[in-house]
Amino acid sequence: MTLVLAIESSCDETAAAVVEDGHCRSSVIRSQVDVHARFGGVVPELASRYHLGAVVPVIEEAMSRAGVDQWSQVDALAVTEGPGLIGALLVGVQVAQGLALALGRPLVGIHHMEGHLFSPCLSDEHARAEPFLPHIALLVSGGHTELVDVQALGRYTLLGSTRDDAAGEAFDKAAKMLGIGYPGGPVIDRLASTGNALAYAFPRGMVDQDNLDFSFSGLKTALLVHLERHGQPETAAALADLCAAFQSAIVDVLVTKAFRALQRARRNRLHVVGGVAANRALRAAIHKAATERGFDVATPPLRYCGDNAAMIGAAACARLAAGLAQFPSLQASISLDDPRLQAP
Ligand code: KG4
Ligand code: ZN
Repeated sequence: MTLVLAIESSCDETAAAVVEDGHCRSSVIRSQVDVHARFGGVVPELASRYHLGAVVPVIEEAMSRAGVDQWSQVDALAVTEGPGLIGALLVGVQVAQGLALALGRPLVGIHHMEGHLFSPCLSDEHARAEPFLPHIALLVSGGHTELVDVQALGRYTLLGSTRDDAAGEAFDKAAKMLGIGYPGGPVIDRLASTGNALAYAFPRGMVDQDNLDFSFSGLKTALLVHLERHGQPETAAALADLCAAFQSAIVDVLVTKAFRALQRARRNRLHVVGGVAANRALRAAIHKAATERGFDVATPPLRYCGDNAAMIGAAACARLAAGLAQFPSLQASISLDDPRLQAP
């Protein structure tokens, strides 16, 4: 049995988790959403400061909720080494290094997106773990929109990515234009649930192009042009329609390209991960496509879609078991197919 204490601080969530052989014993997330909401986006300098204040209490809470009262029970430390905001990452990495040094335990650096890859493969008292079989991963978060062919642990081929905004970023920017709050994804998801997606026709960026890349900046501009021409929606129903139509433009493209990736790579298993994987319309559309077209699909439970440390712990357990664990090297920007992550 390997007990891992994992820390995540790449963006605006300070998180710690205790994970034992891929099973989550505790997961604590302290969000900074309230700090950044009035700016309509994450302010890096503020994020670093708030991580510094939160990281020790969050670790202590994760240890206590897991019932681990002796530091000596921790077999290894894991931390997100990147990609992310450098000042934010630095807080988690420094604390993890300090703990590893004091406890004389190994420290494993984990790529943030590899953590997301492991989010459906994490078990807890309410969730069954999906196996880490070869699959296509649709990674949709605030900073990334990627299709990755996952052959095995440390064998990742990037098939396509966004040429401009990430899907989550498009939700956040749309919500900002509509003045409905931050982060935009959950708000638009909620408002869209009562709207008519066919009420407005928004562009499906690059959907007809024969590649696996994405573009959401045209969609963002289309919303801006719509608002300039027609003004802000005047009724709750009109706002709901606008949200539903905007959301369906994103969902359509994600589903179309994910299915194309499955065909190209000849895989029959799709994992949808990252903050946007919490979107109800996306989950419904993916499951519908899976039933109609006959492929397997896995999505993480909602609590593991957004940033958390349990997924970092699960990836660390897998790397430790496979002898592929490495000491962290701070990485503000590193792709999943970087040689550092690849298995020999
Ligand atoms: O993975 P994540 O927590 O952080 C990053 O690694 O970026 O993803 C955050 C993103 C935000 O852009 C947020 O608006 C989006 O995930 N998001 C959603 C939903 N919940 C969070 N987007 C659409 N629908 C949701 N329900
Ligand atoms: Zn993330």
